[in-house]
Amino acid sequence: MAAEVMDNSSWTSVRDFTTRHLSLNLSVDFQSCRIAASAALTVEALRDGLSALILDTRDLKILQTTVNGQEVKFTLGNKHSYKGTPLTINLPYKLLRGQHTVVEVIYETSPEASALQWLTAEQTAGKKHPYLFSQCQAIHCRSMVPCQDTPSVKSTYYARVSVPKELVALMSANHDGELADNKDDSRKIYCFQQMVPMPSYLIALVVGSLESRVIGPRSRVWSEKEMVDAAAYEFEETETMLKKAEELMGPYVWGQYDLLVLPPSFPYGGMENPCLTFVTPTLLAGDRSLSNVIAHEISHSWTGNLVTNKTWEDFWLNEGHTVYLERMIARSMFGEKHRQFAAIGGWKDLLEAIETFGATNLLTSLVPKLCDTDPDDAFSSVPYEKGFALLYHLEEQLGGPDIFMGFLKAYIQIFAYNSVTTEDWKKCLYTYFSDKTEILNKVDWNTWFHSPGIPPVTPHYDTSMDDDCISLCKRWSIATDVELDCFTENDLKEMTSQQKIEFLALLLLEPPMRLNNVKRMQDLYKFNSVKNAEIKFRWLRLCLRAQWEKAIPLALEMVTVQGRMKFTRPLYRDLYNFEQAREQAIETFKKNKPCMHPITAALVAKDLYLV
Ligand code: BES
Ligand code: ZN
Repeated sequence: MAAEVMDNSSWTSVRDFTTRHLSLNLSVDFQSCRIAASAALTVEALRDGLSALILDTRDLKILQTTVNGQEVKFTLGNKHSYKGTPLTINLPYKLLRGQHTVVEVIYETSPEASALQWLTAEQTAGKKHPYLFSQCQAIHCRSMVPCQDTPSVKSTYYARVSVPKELVALMSANHDGELADNKDDSRKIYCFQQMVPMPSYLIALVVGSLESRVIGPRSRVWSEKEMVDAAAYEFEETETMLKKAEELMGPYVWGQYDLLVLPPSFPYGGMENPCLTFVTPTLLAGDRSLSNVIAHEISHSWTGNLVTNKTWEDFWLNEGHTVYLERMIARSMFGEKHRQFAAIGGWKDLLEAIETFGATNLLTSLVPKLCDTDPDDAFSSVPYEKGFALLYHLEEQLGGPDIFMGFLKAYIQIFAYNSVTTEDWKKCLYTYFSDKTEILNKVDWNTWFHSPGIPPVTPHYDTSMDDDCISLCKRWSIATDVELDCFTENDLKEMTSQQKIEFLALLLLEPPMRLNNVKRMQDLYKFNSVKNAEIKFRWLRLCLRAQWEKAIPLALEMVTVQGRMKFTRPLYRDLYNFEQAREQAIETFKKNKPCMHPITAALVAKDLYLV
């Protein structure tokens, strides 16, 4: 099997121990913004003579540690800026290889826990109850649970969560009933069971005044009651996509597939928490045009959650394959042209990410080195889209989508319930295509994996759905004042939301538009008042680059009313680069920081050069 590798983002030694099961008791206290907890880890020794166990923690207050029920000594090391603090637990006797031990930690989380956002009642849609949600990927689980916080370790878990009676708790697991809280009759306990071994970054918790609607035989959508019906409509296609994914990849093994629509500060578009995908409310555009996010998160049920990247340096294995599958679902639902169109959009995202980081920045390599880099700082479209481009290139070379899907399905079967490195993946590819090694040997693996910048090969895509977007973009980018009269409201009539997004994305690759052009575009197309966040985001970026002052308050509003990093970070960067907006951007950020998500706040502070 796979060789042992170091995880540079964790303190724990995966050569010594592996966690088999985690039993959690969490008591959520909204007054103090703390979780009082115990975590009992069933660990297996992987070699003889071990006398201590190291776990990852971050800002945890450790109260007591026991081994098989007996209190033992522990020490906390120095706090590292992003890796947190190693917790060393002394074992009362030396373990033998294969031996299982239950190590329990009694602890409390900090109000500053990076995995958690605590919202006051005023910050919710309903305004009546507080709200808590977690985001553990990549290395924030350690601020909620002391654990081997590395994707190379997988365990099952069971959790009992005590919350105020009027609230609902959900986790990335199947429901296992509710209990009375004997210690406090204003509270109750929700129980959860995750029987499929999974990495720590997939542990997830939400507590709030939540309601649900059934949207399929194994699916509900959850949110505050204000949004639940809109969400049920928007995500109606969930079961169709699950079935398509199962046709492509084999059975869905996680039981329930629910969706949770979070408050607007949720930092990502979606997060593939098992049994309960988390999604941003910015998907609720009313036009179901953003269903690629659901196809993406569903796909992670195989690529990511069943077969997991072994370290964060192999993150492209999770995201590249998931984007590939997401686009295969689009292909089977809407046809090959739609897949091609989505792939063109992805290539553009890749070019933009490379431009933002700089083409020689090593973080634009497919397999970056993360010895001294916070995975949050390394995050970009590169693992997604360079990963997709490599897979698509292989698909083209090896005989097309059906042949390549055969490999992907085999890869999943071979590595299901395990974690893999890029080398493991490559070996598997060579084994599967053992009759096509000449083709594989022509691939410039070293450049694809380890060189920064644009990939060594540009894939060929069918542009037929793109042509209207390209020609309209050309006309706008060169139009002089007299030519502005040639445009009409009808230019966009025949375009889907995706094509409007593509049209704006193309314009963003051109030099900034002239101010008059931007103004005329607003008069005709009325982008300032669109709901679709993907459209609005790109439109506001165009306006800021054209130095249109009228866009400043709109952009400041967008970075404030929602906190999805994909939108918030580039808008803040564009505001910063626009002299007239810079001061206001910094002021707005400083003012909002206390109610922002901790991860978003940390990254935007860096974008604005405030740290
Ligand atoms: N797993 C990611 C989100 C993530 C990555 C969170 C790294 C923390 C660290 C999720 O599956 C994702 O890729 N979301 C995308 C969706 C898009 C590609 C369709 C997003 O948030 O935009
Ligand atoms: Zn993803």
